[in-house]
Amino acid sequence: MRGKVLSGGLLEAEAELAVLPVYEGKTPLRGTAREADRLLDGAIRGMLDRGEFKARIRRVCLLPVLTARGGLRAKRILLMGMGKPNDLTVDILRGVSAKAAQTARELNVGTIHAELPHSTLKASPDIQAQAWMEGAVMGLYRMNEYRKKESGNGGGELRTLGIVSEHREAAAALRRGLDRGRKLGEATNFGRDLVTHPPNVAVPAFLASAARSMARKTGLSCRILEVQDAERLGMKAFLSVAQAGTAPPKFIVLEHQGRNPRSAPIVLIGKGVTFDTGGLDIKPPSSMRSMKTDMAGAAAVLGAMRAIAELNLPRRVVGLAPCTENMISGRANRPGDVVESMAGITIEIDNTDAEGRLILGDAMTYAKRYRPQAVLDVATLTGACVVALGESCTGLMGNSEELLDRIRQAADCCGDRIWELPLWPEYFELIKSDIADIKNTGGRWGGAITAAAFLARFAGDYPWAHLDIAGPSWRERELPYTPKGASGVGIRLMTELVANWKPLRSKKRKWD
Ligand code: BES
Ligand code: MN
Ligand code: ZN
Repeated sequence: MRGKVLSGGLLEAEAELAVLPVYEGKTPLRGTAREADRLLDGAIRGMLDRGEFKARIRRVCLLPVLTARGGLRAKRILLMGMGKPNDLTVDILRGVSAKAAQTARELNVGTIHAELPHSTLKASPDIQAQAWMEGAVMGLYRMNEYRKKESGNGGGELRTLGIVSEHREAAAALRRGLDRGRKLGEATNFGRDLVTHPPNVAVPAFLASAARSMARKTGLSCRILEVQDAERLGMKAFLSVAQAGTAPPKFIVLEHQGRNPRSAPIVLIGKGVTFDTGGLDIKPPSSMRSMKTDMAGAAAVLGAMRAIAELNLPRRVVGLAPCTENMISGRANRPGDVVESMAGITIEIDNTDAEGRLILGDAMTYAKRYRPQAVLDVATLTGACVVALGESCTGLMGNSEELLDRIRQAADCCGDRIWELPLWPEYFELIKSDIADIKNTGGRWGGAITAAAFLARFAGDYPWAHLDIAGPSWRERELPYTPKGASGVGIRLMTELVANWKPLRSKKRKWD
């Protein structure tokens, strides 16, 4: 999608489709919308008065303009419900933009024009333009690769998003915002694609080659650790999961140098289980059905690394993605097995379906070699997190209050829902094993937390945070700018975190 900034008035542009905001409340029409109403002899006002159009968020009404009149040269007007002016947020803007873009696609329109910035929204022009572009790019996402006969997708492709502004001095900021929004939106869709691919295609080697070609295009460095490398490093927990399957595991290492390649990096780690059968503790069919999403953490790290590289962010960032299947065979982990992790901590496998923490633990140990200033892992780790927080909320835990605060701020910018769960000493008691140092489950209750407690044992002396995205990684119902299916959750969040990064000041650990 191309972004374009035009100076002047929205109505004068010869737009195929001009988007006009309409608000709920006493003053539904403002500025340009009021002007359009005047040129149309009060037609919009009339519709509102008769209750034919209500300006609820994302409600739309298409007005064909049959003949140009006065200063009105747009061919069609799309009235867009914005809700109450005081309630307008950047996230609502993303949703509105997605709706406008989806409507344009249905109408087979190649370009839409809208006016920015909205005076009803307290956000700078570049933030508004970014949100406008992000919403459109993310809202139009669909996967077409696996349909050969019927495309099933009506409509054309929206190619250009035009922003019209009377404020000449804002043009550069608007352009910057559009560019950022496009990169963030496209990186999100790239991650969504990886998750959407079926699990017979998106095996670990597929993710590795996707990482390699993305790195080549964006200037990241990329290294893939093979089985022999993992053996040499002593990643026996990771390998114990991988050995049951026939698809060889891959451990992806991406690096963005930033301005100072010798500075301490931020390390992002993503769970890359390309299919989770549960192992010998096999999942029931209804739970197994959606388990191609179990690499959404790895996809998020790949997507974030792509955005970080394309935005040329000044920080050094390393992305790690341990990728494997969790299959069933004569070589599979048995309940009761003890494996030694790369950190030297021995683990009793209480349940073979708690495989994510096994591969993440080794990745967290591998991260120590970078002497990172912070480590963030993102994983579809537990069904318990979905039970606790629901499908649209990410679980947050970690060992550094300051890092958790930064993550909450980044989530706010993105419109992501995220909530902290406690990680008190009591929970660490629950993963004690009778035979080994720890076991990989913590019993029936508080499963999202005991999983994080397990990971915490592998955090070096670095500040660490964990995002459990088991709920929001896959949507059964669409959201304003997230169509049904893979959501790409975490990609914009991690990018935002890196973009606004300042060295952490506090070394304090939560349970010291
Ligand atoms: N991949 C699953 C978690 C999951 C559940 C992701 C639902 C997305 C949607 C994970 O590997 C798993 O199976 N966790 C177990 C852990 C348990 C055995 C301690 C779970 O949550 O049931
Ligand atoms: Mn599992
Ligand atoms: Zn899993």
